[in-house]
Amino acid sequence: MAESTIGIIMNGVSGRMGYRQHLVRSILAIREQGGVELSDGTRVQLEPILVGRNEAKLAELAEKHGLEHYTTNLDEALADDRWQIYADFLVTKARAKAIRKAIAAGKAIYTEKPTAESFEEALELARLAKEAGVKNGVVHDKLYLPGFQKLKRLIDSGFFGRILSVRGEFGYWVFEGDWQPAQRPSWNYRAEDGGGIIVDMFPHWNYVLENLFGRVESVYAKASTHIPSRVDERGDEYVATADDAAYAIFELEGGIVAQLNSSWTVRVNRDELVEFQVDGTHGSAVVGLFGCKIQPRNATPKPVWNPDLADSHDYDADWLEVPTNDVFENGFKTQWEEFIRHVVEDAPNPYDFLAGARGVLLAERGLASSRDGRRIELPEVTLGSTDAAASVADAEVGASELTGAR
Ligand SMILES: NC(=O)c1ccc[n+]([C@@H]2O[C@H](COP(=O)([O-])OP(=O)(O)OC[C@H]3O[C@@H](n4cnc5c(N)ncnc54)[C@H](O)[C@@H]3O)[C@@H](O)[C@H]2O)c1
Repeated sequence: MAESTIGIIMNGVSGRMGYRQHLVRSILAIREQGGVELSDGTRVQLEPILVGRNEAKLAELAEKHGLEHYTTNLDEALADDRWQIYADFLVTKARAKAIRKAIAAGKAIYTEKPTAESFEEALELARLAKEAGVKNGVVHDKLYLPGFQKLKRLIDSGFFGRILSVRGEFGYWVFEGDWQPAQRPSWNYRAEDGGGIIVDMFPHWNYVLENLFGRVESVYAKASTHIPSRVDERGDEYVATADDAAYAIFELEGGIVAQLNSSWTVRVNRDELVEFQVDGTHGSAVVGLFGCKIQPRNATPKPVWNPDLADSHDYDADWLEVPTNDVFENGFKTQWEEFIRHVVEDAPNPYDFLAGARGVLLAERGLASSRDGRRIELPEVTLGSTDAAASVADAEVGASELTGAR
């Protein structure tokens, strides 16, 4: 039995992420287990109110999951003291406006990434939240993937020696929508609607890289729109104005080079949809969503390049699978539990709006790099000292130019 209850406004709950990961896999799963356990052993239960634009859809979701509260009136929910947390899973374009309202209403805020469409706005949200004294958090789900947790353990254990480089492949083929429906929403392929793979994935890469390896100090990216037109949810053809693939090099603190391909136009020939290879002086690892295999220096083969002979060595067999050794829960759920503890008992939460703003900055600079065909440095981002950085970013790529950059 939970000793207390916390109310959560869930805005955009009918969407892909809002429904599956946040409502079903996180909030409902936490309710089912009897709430979030706090440090003193007591529990806090969660009470959601579903918010969206379509009342019939909300009623159907509430009925399906036995939930009492739903509304199409966000302002009313924000004005109601029963709800202490505002959670945002809207399309990116609609996010900042809703978050500003939630800050003004004094709610704690948890949101999907990217936090805003421009770095300037993302930083302003971080400042406003700080000034208003509202707690804030941004989804950092990839850090919670079992494969990446195993990678973190390897790093902490000193397995790699000095880390030299990271090579990552993320992607899969997203159908164009003509002869098979696309498996992602069409707004993802329209820059004017907040779409694009750089805006979608670079915020993830920023927190993955800075939390595992070091701050991202510069970016060179080449964005492409390989498929120029697609077919939307209603069967209408539209022009794809956003990038559907990005080929990038990031230089990290300490001299590590990360090279990451992100693509919705690639056919998978790897074990998982995301795979990172990390090479260090003492060993290497390949991690995916779940898997993690390693090759220490003591077990490294010594290939010799010989174009005249077919190579019969089984390179796959040189890798050792890292055991799971732990129960990994859904990452969205785990991060939700951490955020609830942050709100209720002030547990630490490094994944805040400022972290979100750094992710938006990387996306913005990545697009500018692609547009200008050059490497761009990233300043350190803090709440107080980034006016200069923000204005440099503005000069390089104004918010209105972002869409034209692809
Ligand atoms: N963390 C992750 O791995 C991950 C993965 C995919 C998407 N996302 C992020 O989650 C967010 C939602 O993405 P999705 O794929 O679920 O999109 P979606 O299109 O499936 O859902 C978007 C939601 O926003 C609502 N909405 C659309 N336009 C609106 C408007 N003008 N005003 C108010 N509400 C509006 C829709 O009704 C829907 O509920 C995006 O910001 C995206 O970047 C995160």
